[in-house]
Amino acid sequence: MICRILLSLGSCVFGSFVVNVTQTSYQAEENHNITLEWTFTVETGRSPTYLNIYCDLVTDDKSSLLYRVHNGAEVSESQDEKFSGRVQSDKDALREGRIRLQLCRLGTEDSGQYRCEVNTDYGSRSASCRLNVTAATDQRSTSPPQEERKDWKIIIIVLTAGALLLALLCCAFYLGSC
Ligand SMILES: *[C@@H]1O[C@H](CO)[C@@H](O)[C@H](O)[C@H]1NC(C)=O
Ligand SMILES: *[C@@H]1O[C@H](CO)[C@@H](O)[C@H](O)[C@H]1NC(C)=O
Ligand SMILES: *[C@@H]1O[C@H](CO)[C@@H](O)[C@H](O)[C@H]1NC(C)=O
Repeated sequence: MICRILLSLGSCVFGSFVVNVTQTSYQAEENHNITLEWTFTVETGRSPTYLNIYCDLVTDDKSSLLYRVHNGAEVSESQDEKFSGRVQSDKDALREGRIRLQLCRLGTEDSGQYRCEVNTDYGSRSASCRLNVTAATDQRSTSPPQEERKDWKIIIIVLTAGALLLALLCCAFYLGSC
């Protein structure tokens, strides 16, 4: 009996609350958007008395706040200004224990380790994922060949039209001479 109580207490304190990442690493290109996702345990039929979430980008020497929930409500004040207006959260997902954060207009400086720490009255954990943003490939380098191809198309059309006109004229002459 005591053993059972201790066991369930143990799993309650140490084992039952988890925070997962749905993907350990993300790859994206500059100027694109990406959705980072974490999941955490929600006990069915019981909403947490309090829910605090703290998500940040951790680079070598500092931490930049990406997203924060305090007592169940989103707080934007302390968000790092480099993320200002670029983070969109999914509030419906949050109720189901999913932190879905869309980060818009990515820049290479957004690369790094993203960590979310979740605190509830039944547990506290954190999980991290990596984001690698690569510089956009230069669009201009691919356009000249396309333009060249367009030029060729025009030349072929003009030549074909010219040949048809010539054939038509010859035909008219031939018919006229009859
Ligand atoms: C990125 O997200 C913004 C806002 O949600 C949207 O307007 C834009 O089309 C998206 N861009 C890409 C490349 O998905
Ligand atoms: C976390 O991951 C473990 C192992 O994949 C899985 O069993 C568990 O259901 C996940 N929990 C949540 C809340 O996503
Ligand atoms: C980021 O992606 C580029 C291109 O795929 C790759 O060469 C580079 O090694 C990646 N960097 C990290 C830190 O994963």
